[in-house]
Amino acid sequence: MNRYIMKGGNPLVGEVQISGAKNAALGILAASIMTDENVVIENLPDVRDINVMLEAIQEIGANVERLDRHTVQINASSIHAVSVDDEYIRRIRASYYFIGALLGKYKSAEVPLPGGCNIGSRPIDQHLKGFRALGARIEIERGAVLAHAIDLVGGHIYLDVVSVGATINIMMAAALAEGQTILENAAKEPHVVDVANFLNSMGANIKGAGTDIIRIRGVRRFHGTEYSIIPDQIEAGTFMCGAAVTRGDVTVKNVIPKHLEAISAKLLEIGCEVIEGDDEVRVVGRPRQRSTNIKTLPYPGFPTDMQPQMAVTLALTEGTSMITESIFENRFKYVDELTRMGGCIKVEGNVAVIDGVKGFTGAQLESPDLRAGAALVLAGLAAEGYTVVDEIGYIQRGYECFEEKLQRLGASIEMVDSEKKANKFRLKTG
Ligand code: EPZ
Repeated sequence: MNRYIMKGGNPLVGEVQISGAKNAALGILAASIMTDENVVIENLPDVRDINVMLEAIQEIGANVERLDRHTVQINASSIHAVSVDDEYIRRIRASYYFIGALLGKYKSAEVPLPGGCNIGSRPIDQHLKGFRALGARIEIERGAVLAHAIDLVGGHIYLDVVSVGATINIMMAAALAEGQTILENAAKEPHVVDVANFLNSMGANIKGAGTDIIRIRGVRRFHGTEYSIIPDQIEAGTFMCGAAVTRGDVTVKNVIPKHLEAISAKLLEIGCEVIEGDDEVRVVGRPRQRSTNIKTLPYPGFPTDMQPQMAVTLALTEGTSMITESIFENRFKYVDELTRMGGCIKVEGNVAVIDGVKGFTGAQLESPDLRAGAALVLAGLAAEGYTVVDEIGYIQRGYECFEEKLQRLGASIEMVDSEKKANKFRLKTG
C-alpha cells in the first residue's frame, strides 16, 4: 500500500504550477457526451477521479483519445448505452453527473447511486427534484437511479440547499430541454461557472452562472468544441496553506486570484504576506502567526474543501481559533490524527476549537479523505521528525503529482510502498 513518508522542518519555497480544477473537469467530462461531434478538453488534471470518469465514458461507448497528459478528445456519437454501471464509477461521487448528461441528450439514464463518503451522507435529493421538475420520471432500483422522460420541458426550480452538484446536474439536463428553466438558489462556485461556459461553448444558452439565479433556454442539440479547464482553486489554496504552515514562501502559478480571495483574506488575517499577480499569488509565512475564526460557506464564502488545511494552519498559530463547518456533517475526522502530533483541538458538533501550539511532532497517520489527507501531509512537513501518511489513494484522487510538486518546493517527502523503503528514506535523510 503506498504511503507518504516525510521529514518535517523544511520551509516550502519556490513556485508551483497549479493543475486544472478536478471539480470543474468532472462536470465538463460528463457534459462532453452531450454532443455527437468532437470535443477537445485541455488542462485536465491527471488525477484518479478524472481517469475513472474517462474510463466510464469509454465503457458506455464513446471514443476517448488522449492527445497528451492533460488533453483529451471525446466523441460520443458511438454511445450505445445509457446505463453507466462500471465498478470503478461507483467509487467517485461525480458519477451522478452522467444522469443529467444522459437524460438531457437521450431522455434516459441509469446510473449507480453515488456512495456516501467520509465527510457526510451526501444525498442527491435536490438533483432528483430538479430532474422531476423538468418532466423526468425517477426511480431508485437496485442501487441505481433510473431517469426517463418523454420530453424534458423547462421549469422554475428552487434548490432547498445550495448544491454544487445539483446546480451542475440540473443545468446539463435543462440545456437540452424545451423552453426556459430558471434555477434559483444556485451554487456560484467557479467550477459551476466553468461548466456553464463549457456548455455555452457547445451551443447552450445559459445566463447567470456565478449568481444565485441561472436562466437556461433549451436548445435542440450541441455542436463540438475545444475548451480549457480553469485552474484548481483548492489545489492552489492547499499550497498557499503549505507556505503558512512551514513558514515558507510559495508562489502558486497559473491561478485566478479572484477565486482564491476567501483563502488569501484568511492568510492575511493570521499575519502572512499575500501578494496577488495577474495569474499568480505569493504567500510568505511568518514565524508568529495569529489565530482567527472561520465558517465554511458556499462560494464566495470560505470553501469547505479548504477547511482541514486551514485547521492545520491555525493549529500552529498563537491563540485560540474556531472553525465552523456548515456544509458537511462529518468533516473533522482528521482532528484525532492531529492530536497525535501534539495538536490541541476540541470538536463539539460542527465546531472545532483550536488552541495553537508551538509545533507538531511526527507520527504515523491515516488519511480519512481527500482534503484531510493533504492537510495531514502539510502537518507532517511542519512537524519535528518523521511522519508517515497512509491511505494516500484519497489524496491521489484530487492532487496531481502531489509529492513531486512538494519536493520541488524543498519538502523532504517520498512515496513508499514498504517499510524497507521507508527506513531507506529515514537513513538517507537522518
Ligand atoms: C462538490 O460536492 C465537490 N465535489 C466537493 O468537493 C465540495 O466539498 C462540495 O461540492 C461543496 O463545495 C465535486 O464537485 C465532485 P454539494 P457536492 O451538493 O456537489 C447537501 C472535494 O474535496 N446536499 O454542494 O456533492 C450536501 O449533503 C469534494 O473535491 C443535499 O442535501 O456538494 C451538503 O451538505 C469533497 N442534497 C451540501 O448540500 C443534494 O441533493 C453541499 O453539497 C445535494 C447536496
